[in-house]
Amino acid sequence: MTDTKQIQTLIETAIAQLAFSYTPYSHFKVGAALLAKNGTIYTGCNIENAAYTPTNCAERTAIFKAVSEGVREFDAICVVGGKDGVLEDFAPPCGVCRQVMMEFCQPDEFQIILAKGKEDYQIYTLKDLMPQGFGPGNLKER
Ligand code: THU
Repeated sequence: MTDTKQIQTLIETAIAQLAFSYTPYSHFKVGAALLAKNGTIYTGCNIENAAYTPTNCAERTAIFKAVSEGVREFDAICVVGGKDGVLEDFAPPCGVCRQVMMEFCQPDEFQIILAKGKEDYQIYTLKDLMPQGFGPGNLKER
């Protein structure tokens, strides 16, 4: 599915989202670029809140933007993040975002690209990061 050029486009797109990240409390900026199976890239940034718990992660912003437009099938997401937007380390998705991915993505196919730069990235499947995850399949009638 994702070739090197596509991966680098996703990384560049995720990095561009850091400019929109709203983080007056943690100053930890996260950007995401979600590749839908139809080829569209949905972007996301984290959006914090003075009451803290309403904070939305970059990954969920991107997924909810897509789902709210009727798109529910995805191939990959790139996530970048760091304090003040400096990409010192990889920024893996939090547990809540992994669970939201479980809802819409194939665990053994969906790729999670963690990047520190265009040439510096790691790729995991959702299953790698969420082994034995609970998803829609667990609620299917037998
Ligand atoms: N954050 C994300 O945007 N994605 C994650 O998966 C981990 C955490 C954000 C939430 C909060 O604005 C900041 O990073 C620090 O937790």
